[in-house]
Amino acid sequence: MRGLAYAKINLTLEVTGKRPDGYHELISIMQTVALADKLSLDPATELSLECDVPELAGDDNLVLRAARLLGRGGRFVLGKRIPVAGGLGGGSGDAALALRLLDAAYGLHLSPHQFLDAAAQLGSDVPFFIHGGTALVEGRGEQVTPLPDLPEHWLVLLNPGLPLSTARVYGELKPDEYTAASPSPAAAGEGRGEGAWRRGDDRASRSGPLPPAGERSEHDLPRLVNTLEAPALRLEPAIGECRERLLAAGSSQVLLSGSGPTVFGLAASEADAYRIAKQTDGIATCFARRKQAIQLQPD
Ligand code: C5P
Repeated sequence: MRGLAYAKINLTLEVTGKRPDGYHELISIMQTVALADKLSLDPATELSLECDVPELAGDDNLVLRAARLLGRGGRFVLGKRIPVAGGLGGGSGDAALALRLLDAAYGLHLSPHQFLDAAAQLGSDVPFFIHGGTALVEGRGEQVTPLPDLPEHWLVLLNPGLPLSTARVYGELKPDEYTAASPSPAAAGEGRGEGAWRRGDDRASRSGPLPPAGERSEHDLPRLVNTLEAPALRLEPAIGECRERLLAAGSSQVLLSGSGPTVFGLAASEADAYRIAKQTDGIATCFARRKQAIQLQPD
């Protein structure tokens, strides 16, 4: 079995407080994008992982941890395309795909609850990747409400090339930077019907056919916001330079993804995304719909 593990961006990420267990409470709208790692599994008694970035093939790789969690062996081969420790959920997406490959290869028939439970044990971002597409993510990351797919949007990812630890960014976040709990302006929506996002309502009835490319814009998106952007910027000034480069190249809106350091900039069209990517040395990509994000292929 094999599949593609798509990257994610956070269209919104609001931290509302710190929990007694040390994690932070968040409200986030996550979206898979078409940049993906490749992962294949051949069932076997022994457990092994081959990766084209050899330093990632260690015992603590989330793919191996997923297999150990389900008590199964197999030969995994991982082709990395997503920048490592970039805020794009690369390792988390690999872990969720490993769970789905193991389930399919061994006919485990895990229930949705068992999938999400296993995913949450592997990391806060992993449950989202069980669903993919567009989703509202709450709690520590374990509460996932799938939302209807958004229309296609193009964007450019720009990574400063320096890994940034998620724990460090959360550690740098100050309580006065938390978003007021509920309903938060970006997740609950103000005046543009974004309350649908917060409630997970079916927006399909009002989305209709796509407007012409030139008129397609952030109109269909929730208002972009990320509580972690300020602390990440304090830790890594190169993030600010990436922001400036994307804005100077013509991105309409720019935001840090997750805890960074990858920054994404929205583009008006596919051609615009490739132009901005060329100018900034970034990666042009587009939203990946749920069906695309979770499909598996037999060998
Ligand atoms: O769950 P995961 O291992 O991916 O989280 C990495 C680190 O990020 C945690 O150790 C914690 O410091 C921080 N974190 C957090 N609140 C979350 C998710 C992650 O504080 N909701």
